[in-house]
Amino acid sequence: MSGKITLSVIKADVGGYVGHSSIHSALMDKARERLSKALEKGLLVDFHVTRCGDDLELIMTHKKGADSNEIHELAWNTFLACTEVAKELKLYGAGQDILKDAFTGTVKGLGPGVAEMEFEERKSEPVIVFMADKTSPGAWNLPLFKIFADPFNTAGLVIDPAMHMGFEFEVLDIHAHKTITLSCPEEMYDLLMFIGAVGRFVIKAVRRKDGLAAASASTEKLSEVAGRYVGKDDPVLIIRCQSGLPAVGEVLEPFTFPHLVEGWMRGSHHGPLMPVPFYEANPSRFDGPPRVIAAGFQVTNGKLIGPRDMFDDPSFDGAREKANDIADYMRRHGPFEPHRLGLDAMEYTTMPGLMKKHEGRFKAE
Ligand code: F6R
Ligand code: MG
Ligand code: MG
Repeated sequence: MSGKITLSVIKADVGGYVGHSSIHSALMDKARERLSKALEKGLLVDFHVTRCGDDLELIMTHKKGADSNEIHELAWNTFLACTEVAKELKLYGAGQDILKDAFTGTVKGLGPGVAEMEFEERKSEPVIVFMADKTSPGAWNLPLFKIFADPFNTAGLVIDPAMHMGFEFEVLDIHAHKTITLSCPEEMYDLLMFIGAVGRFVIKAVRRKDGLAAASASTEKLSEVAGRYVGKDDPVLIIRCQSGLPAVGEVLEPFTFPHLVEGWMRGSHHGPLMPVPFYEANPSRFDGPPRVIAAGFQVTNGKLIGPRDMFDDPSFDGAREKANDIADYMRRHGPFEPHRLGLDAMEYTTMPGLMKKHEGRFKAE
């Protein structure tokens, strides 16, 4: 196949089963039915429907480029159709991420999360799609830094001449709605100062210095869209691997460390990000702990050969065990920080109302 292919991963929570823990198969069936029709019409080259926790994930390949009106409309209408099924079954939070009434040419800003990447298929094109539940886009900052800038994680940064020049990180300031591109290794310390603040600065994309697209992440913050707390954003991430990019094993390696992320119960707690096989992506304990799955594909003439369930591997058992230990430890703090998020992150939930309720009762010291 000649010409560029686009990989679009568009996701939304349109109803949970049971509560916010997982998804009913009827929603996946409806999504497959919708995308099959688009495939028959030639709009899609291929697709794969999956889920992580209560999030429905549409993984699609096509020739329409990123931000395509047609592809976004297809995803939007698919989510609406699935919402109808969720309503019939009275699934929990039916239509949760459908925050706006009308489609406006893009799903961005309407509730769903989006990661897209347009590229010229290489001789062989191994790609990993990461999908998380009960957390927010800042969860990818630490693993993305390790994968593309830490030589203790990625041996290729030292050994492979094609990677030796390093990578560029496009970072989004979520509040200012502005991006900055920082180059590693030269600007590593500046980069870390920004992306260490995971609630404010999130990595949107990573490129090799010759311009090759390497990673693309969803950065939608639901609370920013809705102006109130409406569940966590549950982000997705696409990473291309091998041949002058980090190897599959280098891309997976950071997830052996279950780092603390924002999310978990009521989107208001810090907890460990637990890497799990597909069938274990059902956050239950205290609505968590947050989960991440990794779907590996070979993209071949636009077809999605796969997925391989990349965390279905005993070498991640240690990370799962550690995540459970951390979960125990963090839970013991109950409603105290740092288990509960800091006040700035609670601005869309209880705090403003509480301050108003007790207005006038604060006396000068
Ligand atoms: C977190 C999440 C859940 C809910 C919690 C309360 O992203 O979705 O932890 O916040 O189950 O849900 P409601 O308010 O719908 O009862
Ligand atoms: Mg939900
Ligand atoms: Mg979710």
